[in-house]
Amino acid sequence: MSENRPTILKIGGSVITDKNGELAARLSDINRLAQEIKNADIQDLIIIHGGGSFGHPLAKRYSINEGFKEESQKIGFAETHHVMTVLNGLFMDALIWNGLPAISIAPSSCILTKSGRIVSFEETTLKTVLKMDFIPVMYGDAVFDVDLGFTILSGDQLVSYIATRFNVKGIIIGVDVDGLYNADPKTEKKAKMFKRLTLKELKNLQEALGKSTACDVTGGMFGKISELLPAIECGIPVKIVNATKPNYIYKILKGEKVEGTLIKKE
Ligand code: IPE
Repeated sequence: MSENRPTILKIGGSVITDKNGELAARLSDINRLAQEIKNADIQDLIIIHGGGSFGHPLAKRYSINEGFKEESQKIGFAETHHVMTVLNGLFMDALIWNGLPAISIAPSSCILTKSGRIVSFEETTLKTVLKMDFIPVMYGDAVFDVDLGFTILSGDQLVSYIATRFNVKGIIIGVDVDGLYNADPKTEKKAKMFKRLTLKELKNLQEALGKSTACDVTGGMFGKISELLPAIECGIPVKIVNATKPNYIYKILKGEKVEGTLIKKE
């Protein structure tokens, strides 16, 4: 039975799915990541994954994050949640058949939001799963919301929420680029990656980049990192690494040096 501080590993939807497609899972990457997690052989891990081309297109089509407005959205809410369970099932398959005692916990079954922010989290299951040394696996999901009826809960908000309540040791964010940049590295050749950032530097950067429309493309990544501010404020370090590169997740889980962006409070 474990009482240790867990580490959170968030795997972005862009790593395990092809964001240009729809319902396009990257099965070989899912399997490679499961093997890397198994080989790293670490205790006290919480895995959270994103939606990529499973959750996002449907959530957008039915405007799920704007809340319940008309009956026709209901099937969209059900579909969005369902495809997330399908993607989660593919990840669970890979984790379990690689020998990891992973247990899926559906956020929609234990979390309620209020205007998009988590207000209640029935955490007994997560606590028990951790205590018994299983690996809980959660994901961004379509969830019920006390003001909006329903909405989308991003995996990143979930990461931050769990991190601050479960006293986690650190957060690893696996994405499809090498770290956090001052512009979109996929379109801007001159984009510069930050190796280390303090909380203060991150906030200054957000202010500066937020004002510039030219950098709107990085809004996605910076928006996601903004969700992690409460965790960083609590002193929890965040490392952003490229999870599409073989063995990066293995190495970071092992505590080895890996290229990426480290964000710390001081
Ligand atoms: C999105 O979760 C979940 C749904 C759209 C249902 P995330 O926002 O964490 O997903 P990625 O990592 O950006 O794909």
